[in-house]
Amino acid sequence: MNESKLKERKLKNLLRKTDDSEIASLKGTIISIIEIINDPNSNLNDLKELLQLDPPLTARVFRVANSPYYAAPRPIHEIEQAVVWIGFNALQEIVLTQKYSEILKNCRRVQGFSPETIWKHCLAVALLSKMIMRKEFGLKGNDAYAVGLLHDIGLIVEDQLQYDDFGKVMQEVVDGHQEILTAEMSVLGFDHADVGRMLAEHWNFPHEFVDVIGSHHDPTMGVADDGRIVKVLYVADFLSFEAGFGYGKGTRQDKELFAMVTDELKLEPFALSLITEAMKEEMERIEEKGVFLR
Ligand SMILES: [Fe+2]
Ligand SMILES: [Fe+2]
Repeated sequence: MNESKLKERKLKNLLRKTDDSEIASLKGTIISIIEIINDPNSNLNDLKELLQLDPPLTARVFRVANSPYYAAPRPIHEIEQAVVWIGFNALQEIVLTQKYSEILKNCRRVQGFSPETIWKHCLAVALLSKMIMRKEFGLKGNDAYAVGLLHDIGLIVEDQLQYDDFGKVMQEVVDGHQEILTAEMSVLGFDHADVGRMLAEHWNFPHEFVDVIGSHHDPTMGVADDGRIVKVLYVADFLSFEAGFGYGKGTRQDKELFAMVTDELKLEPFALSLITEAMKEEMERIEEKGVFLR
């Protein structure tokens, strides 16, 4: 069997395993919230319908809405009140973030990787992607937030469903022998961008999401939004490692590719350093006052 056939077969086997896993139990809500985020005509009723189906999620959303982070003047018990105080976009982000944290908290610890490290990484990338879209391109950026949060879903699948092999991958990375993608290829026969792309397709994510998740380590391959969103996510991913929100100590970064991508996007180092500072402040606020991942 040739190499690409073998890779496809291995990926399909893993995908089959996801169908019977905890990960799949979150599929419905994640897909619905992504549709709401991705559809400019979505409204409050869509969000209400979604929350009605998931009372524990609704409770978590209200807990966040009433947390010191949002400093509401009086308790929020209705979605309408939450929209007035927090805003529709932010509320969509909270719903996705809360639901996704249910997947992440089941991650198992291996060298250089834990539920906390991957959680902080995903959140940092989501915030940076959104901030770059907002501050540099004048866009809302909540789709960038969503795809930023989800971009490493392949790593989560590997950790939860191929734990022993994933441990070997991370050991290689932490020991500095191989970079993550090479280590994944040699141990697993595929990498987490392959897994992410396949899962995103299997779950019928919007094309843009499939494209970004599948190309996030190879930003020149992205096509959605003329390749911009993939490049923004690549920049966000790079900056998150630089800012200490990476995983797998010792992971090397491709500085040349980063310079090329920031050049193409016309992103100035000074602007990026300000955005990184803003992300760090936000992460501190979330840690101090938020209620995420609990
Ligand atoms: Fe990645
Ligand atoms: Fe990442």
